[in-house]
Amino acid sequence: MHVVILETPADVGDYAAREILRGVDAGQIRNLGVATGSSPLSLYKVLERHRSSRLAALHAFALDEYVGLAPEHPESYHAVIHREVTQRLGLDPENVHVPDGSATDLAAACAAFEAAIRAAGGIDLQILGIGRNGHIGFNEPTSSLASRTRVKTLMSATRRDNARFFSDASCVPTHCVTQGLGTILEARRVILVAQGAAKAAAVASAVEGPLAGICPASVLQLHPDAVFVLDREAARDLTLQEYYRNVQEHGSP
Ligand code: GLP
Repeated sequence: MHVVILETPADVGDYAAREILRGVDAGQIRNLGVATGSSPLSLYKVLERHRSSRLAALHAFALDEYVGLAPEHPESYHAVIHREVTQRLGLDPENVHVPDGSATDLAAACAAFEAAIRAAGGIDLQILGIGRNGHIGFNEPTSSLASRTRVKTLMSATRRDNARFFSDASCVPTHCVTQGLGTILEARRVILVAQGAAKAAAVASAVEGPLAGICPASVLQLHPDAVFVLDREAARDLTLQEYYRNVQEHGSP
């Protein structure tokens, strides 16, 4: 696990976008895993400023979707990904995949999403945010570390956190479809971005706590190429900050 500590939230977006553009230009990223939430928005805006035919040729796979929101609902992740990723990066909507939370057979929709990732050759780089409770995608605490794409029940805390996107807290769906932790682990590279003090405890548990379902993001300790890109506030509860800064400064031999 690699930890990069930067000063400001904007620095986090710039750094993560640079890493992605480097991979795209080197031909290493064809399938990009994309996340919703506020955390990756600045990253998408930087990518938008660097639009190119290579970027536009990417295929994208979203992490999750609410159950029961029509794709046309402005807060469905179909709609959010369309606004924030497909349009900004200039992707072909045909190449953008979001789990189907409106399917009558949700189990079949989850299996189809896993099959689509496999058929595309797997995800080359997965962008992640992190919930205050340590969730990635919508894998709530106590998710199986080996889980695959499936239906999950959202915690009340997550519904409260996401109520800001809806007119009323009661409008936040109670269930979602999310890539599993086992699915996310199969991405070849993972970049998790976190900004602000509200994420500090979750980041510290994920990076320095035990590997445990109670902090789903801790599963990234098993990933051979996972990078946490943090601003100063999100990093503030890490006990080994000095070490991470040394590694940043001196790089690898
Ligand atoms: C959500 C998403 C996650 C996201 C997290 C944090 O609800 N399903 O993918 O990382 O919450 O959101 P934010 O970045 O807005 O803090």
